[in-house]
Amino acid sequence: MSGWVKIAGLGPGNEALVTPEVTAALAEATDVVGYIPYVARIAERPGLTLHASDNRVEIDRSQHALQMAAEGKRVVVVSSGDPGVFAMAAAVFEALENGPREWRDLPVEVLPGITAMLAASARAGAPLGHDFCTINLSDNLKPWPLIEKRLRLAAQADFAMAFYNPRSKSRPEGFVKTLEILREECEPERLILFARAVSRADEAIRISTLVEATPDMADMQTVVIVGSSLTRVIERAGDPIVYTPRFTPE
Ligand SMILES: C[S@@+](CC[C@H](N)C(=O)[O-])C[C@H]1O[C@@H](n2cnc3c(N)ncnc32)[C@H](O)[C@@H]1O
Repeated sequence: MSGWVKIAGLGPGNEALVTPEVTAALAEATDVVGYIPYVARIAERPGLTLHASDNRVEIDRSQHALQMAAEGKRVVVVSSGDPGVFAMAAAVFEALENGPREWRDLPVEVLPGITAMLAASARAGAPLGHDFCTINLSDNLKPWPLIEKRLRLAAQADFAMAFYNPRSKSRPEGFVKTLEILREECEPERLILFARAVSRADEAIRISTLVEATPDMADMQTVVIVGSSLTRVIERAGDPIVYTPRFTPE
């Protein structure tokens, strides 16, 4: 039996947002590998072995997946959202590049998922309707001065911005600094959206401005979207709509 690896995105949380392609891969899998809370989303069934591991062991997990595929298993590596966005796809390819030569000939496929910023954007309206960029605010895998440089330049270029991993308990000061930098670069009324647990039962969407925003509005289950200078709110009877117009005047 020939093995394979499929690196699949489970979307932001709601099962309705898992693609049929990912559901089909999971139905064919012999093994599922991933971070504990993501593997917990996979239904157990006869013939399927679940391998849940802790955070920060992405390369070990990737090597394990590739090794099992080399032994003939059909392995799905799961990530939340999209596997190519701050997630397992790059880790698997890093392991593949540095691993035994025979791993390169294994069938490996990336199955996209709905990433958190797009699920959040859809809930709020269309804040990412014009040019935008995405920054991971964690300094686990890159130095803080690089994050600061990217933040400043993105703000100066008037991108809308989506921030992943905004504020962990172990490094709460990063998001404090992020807000300070944004206040230096942008006007006080700039819109900032805190989208927590999007598509899950405890979802909370909060629209604020830079002058009103406080660091505790974000945690590791939040994706933060900062508007461009043109991003605006339509007030109405129901939830307000946040959007960035498609047209930028000269
Ligand atoms: C390691 S990154 C993984 C991102 C994931 N691969 C994706 O495409 O959404 C984890 C971060 O994604 C964001 N995130 C993931 N799911 C989310 C959700 N349902 N609601 C809000 N933010 C979410 C948070 O910023 C969290 O700290």
